[in-house]
Amino acid sequence: MEEITLHTTNKTSRILIGERLDHLTKYLPSSTKIVILSDSNIIKFYKHKLPNYPIIEIGTGEGIKNLNTIDYIMGQLIKLEADRTSFLVGIGGGIVCDIAGFAASIYMRGIRFGFVSTTLLSQVDASVGGKNGVNYEGYKNMVGVFNQPEFVICDTSMLSTLPREEYIGGYAEVIKHGCIRSTELFEFLEKNVSKALSYDESTIIYCVAQSVKIKASVVEHDEREKGERRILNFGHTFAHAIEKISTLPHGQAVAIGMNYASYISYKLGMITKNDYQRIRQLIINFQLPVNFSFDTETLLDAMRKDKKREGEDIHLILLSSIGNAIVKPVSYQQLKTFIHDLREHQ
Ligand SMILES: NC(=O)c1ccc[n+]([C@@H]2O[C@H](COP(=O)([O-])OP(=O)(O)OC[C@H]3O[C@@H](n4cnc5c(N)ncnc54)[C@H](O)[C@@H]3O)[C@@H](O)[C@H]2O)c1
Ligand SMILES: [Zn+2]
Repeated sequence: MEEITLHTTNKTSRILIGERLDHLTKYLPSSTKIVILSDSNIIKFYKHKLPNYPIIEIGTGEGIKNLNTIDYIMGQLIKLEADRTSFLVGIGGGIVCDIAGFAASIYMRGIRFGFVSTTLLSQVDASVGGKNGVNYEGYKNMVGVFNQPEFVICDTSMLSTLPREEYIGGYAEVIKHGCIRSTELFEFLEKNVSKALSYDESTIIYCVAQSVKIKASVVEHDEREKGERRILNFGHTFAHAIEKISTLPHGQAVAIGMNYASYISYKLGMITKNDYQRIRQLIINFQLPVNFSFDTETLLDAMRKDKKREGEDIHLILLSSIGNAIVKPVSYQQLKTFIHDLREHQ
């Protein structure tokens, strides 16, 4: 097991990588009311392993990440007579953790909370960094708070029951962390693809720990995303637009977005052709896509509507080498030419 501590303005969060769901009670306060929040899939697979506390069960999918679910949870907490001293544990992927963190932050002006993170995406990304919230009428993560959980248990053994596509999608964020901050992680991934894809636990723990360290160090410098934290969006300006115009899941869209952003970095003379090809090949080796079929105007239009847009230029996260990212304004005209190239030649 590896433990990483995240320090932010008013809280410290313990991230326990390789710890087990079975040991959850070790991290919970005694003599206070504990309530578990989880989704129907986790309850189906792991009910026998959950400690004996009341459970609030929610459904699955992005569609339930809304204020109606928060309303339901508030009602359940009241019914369970949870008070200011109570503790809420979210057990699940990014959706459960985002909802649990938000619900705990507003119930009685805020109660204590922690997570057991059960998807690769939430272990390497969603459950670290203190962003909690829900969608509002089709706008993603529109309502929410910044608040850190007291602990995040990343039980890597639980990833074996995850649908394969979800598991592989999580590696897109690990590759992202290597690209933006760590040549060492990038090279590790190049050498250990087959171990990672066959659920070798020490390989997973290394990938999660490195990702958490990178995300934690970026977040510690810029908790509220005013500057540096934006590099975590590498591949995401494209990915958000791709998700809008296709049925591709997030991780797969991020993989395509990283390939596009790396191609643009190469075309602008910021990285070598060899580095671009290494990134593209690593994405392919992880069984992730590097392209999809699209109409240039539709993709550009979806990118224009993204909230990250600033003025007449679009601010892209590009690479100056493998392991270093920078924010660079690119004009729409320039972007259109690159996107056209990508559509024709990838
Ligand atoms: N707060 C942040 O900083 C942040 C960052 C990235 C993403 N997110 C959010 O995370 C969400 C996506 O998270 P996700 O990819 O973890 O999706 P998810 O929570 O929907 O989980 C994916 C699916 O796998 C199931 N599942 C979870 N763990 C399982 C396990 N161990 N075994 C079997 N099935 C399991 C879930 O029930 C669900 O059906 C999005 O809403 C996104 O906005 C938040
Ligand atoms: Zn992402």
